[in-house]
Amino acid sequence: MRISVIGAGYVGLVTAVGLSSLGHLVICADKNEERINRLRRGIIPFRENGLDEKLQHHLDQSNISFTHDTGIAVRGSNVLIIAVGTPQAPDGNADLSYLWQAVDEIASNTMEKKTIIVKSTVPPGTCDQIEQSLVSRKIDSLILDVVHNPEFLRQGSAVNDFFNPDRIIIGCKNENSPSLLQNMYFGLQSPFLVYDRSTAELIKYASNAFLALKISFINMLSDLSEKLGADIEQISEGIGMDKRIGSAFLKAGIGYGGSCFPKDIRAMQHFAAIHHIPMPLLYAVEEINAQRPELIVEACKQHFGSLRKRRILLLGLAFKPFTDDIRESPALAVSSLLLEQGVELHAYDPWVQHFPVQNVSCFQDPYQAIEGCEAVVLLTDWPQFRQLNWERICRKIKNGLIFDGRNQFTTNEIMPLINRHAIKYRSIGRPNLGKTAIVQQFNEETLFMLPEENDFTNSGLLKKAAL
Ligand code: NAD
Ligand code: UGA
Repeated sequence: MRISVIGAGYVGLVTAVGLSSLGHLVICADKNEERINRLRRGIIPFRENGLDEKLQHHLDQSNISFTHDTGIAVRGSNVLIIAVGTPQAPDGNADLSYLWQAVDEIASNTMEKKTIIVKSTVPPGTCDQIEQSLVSRKIDSLILDVVHNPEFLRQGSAVNDFFNPDRIIIGCKNENSPSLLQNMYFGLQSPFLVYDRSTAELIKYASNAFLALKISFINMLSDLSEKLGADIEQISEGIGMDKRIGSAFLKAGIGYGGSCFPKDIRAMQHFAAIHHIPMPLLYAVEEINAQRPELIVEACKQHFGSLRKRRILLLGLAFKPFTDDIRESPALAVSSLLLEQGVELHAYDPWVQHFPVQNVSCFQDPYQAIEGCEAVVLLTDWPQFRQLNWERICRKIKNGLIFDGRNQFTTNEIMPLINRHAIKYRSIGRPNLGKTAIVQQFNEETLFMLPEENDFTNSGLLKKAAL
């Protein structure tokens, strides 16, 4: 098939490259001329595992091409996928201006029959509105259908998610659209669910809201767990093994971020309010999440008293590992709150070199970044942070504080280290360690060794196996 994708961001580019891999001829259009020029040379505008190799392969095969002229893309294919951004508008609703620009371009370049597939996340009713607008422009006879095909990929594993979807959702009106999309996705093993358009549009928002709800639930519980001296990691394991609950998205931490959960929850609040349907849960999810960064300021104040002129290292700036995306990253709120307290901030992230908050000094080397610091705050669960030389880091921050905002370490593995260096270790939803903890005897020269990733010695799993 010949397919055009409008928008070369995370979703558009992954979709374009993925569809090329499935054997289609793809034209990808983006308004951003510089982005297009770089893509033509195989340079992708963000970091996404495995995407550059696949893009280069399909550029070499000439089954993907790029243009900044959306008209060329529209005229070049009969299947048009809209994957432009739908960011948050000032009133909280989804800003659909990019989407309407794309629809305008389609309307003014359509001379033969086309199917429009909206992949952008859009409030329920949007595909119906697109159809009405095409009727008013008198080109509806050329548009076979306006289909909603929501995207569920995660940044950091987007390529894998494209090829291994849990489900493909189609919201359509024309009875031929399901087979068109089945052909488009031919080769993928996935349940294929066909609904009306508003149902498909709402499924996308409901999915993101439910995942965020799970995170806020476990985060809310983690505060109680910490007070009770219980362990939230074990609680997650214990409740997650109930198949009705499931273990995914029960990792407690300093909160969710990213380009989608925050804005999609606000958009959902907004369109539900328009329909006078109260959504109190969604407000609670957001409020719990908004409070998470304050935990760090409180912990630092408790440890140091005044924070003025204290130097603190932030480990991780991206909203999650394996992306360089900092949109709505918890690191933004944490750094602003700490700077308000007069803290000097150093930061290290393996993939993020530029951070828009003034007075945060970014380093390319974590050991340079730790110089002069008295505390380390782990914000992103990059696996390589576990492999840093923590003996060396702890020598630098002697008597200081480690705030593990993603529970990267088990309490057993961190205990010897913090005892040896008289360091306070705070994490999420687990007993506080350090100073008051039982001091054990260790050789100063012994290097801090972490167990292998799959060592479950400290978890309930092994205890259960032993039984
Ligand atoms: P993005 O901001 O990374 O990319 C959007 C691209 O569209 C930009 O390159 C922009 O220049 C381009 N664009 C805007 N208007 C255009 C127009 N009229 N013609 C051509 N190009 C245009 O956005 P994204 O993260 O890829 O998200 C796209 C949509 O997919 C959003 O609705 C988002 O909610 C949804 N979504 C995103 C993800 C994700 O992980 N990022 C996952 C699922 C769904
Ligand atoms: C999320 C959804 O997982 C995708 O299905 C969806 O397509 C996408 O949003 C979207 O609509 O844009 P993404 O934002 O890439 O994907 O990242 P997630 O892996 O969902 O993580 C989001 C945030 O939640 C991160 O800050 C992460 O650290 C946090 N998180 C995740 C937790 O705090 N705990 C968890 O257990 C899981």
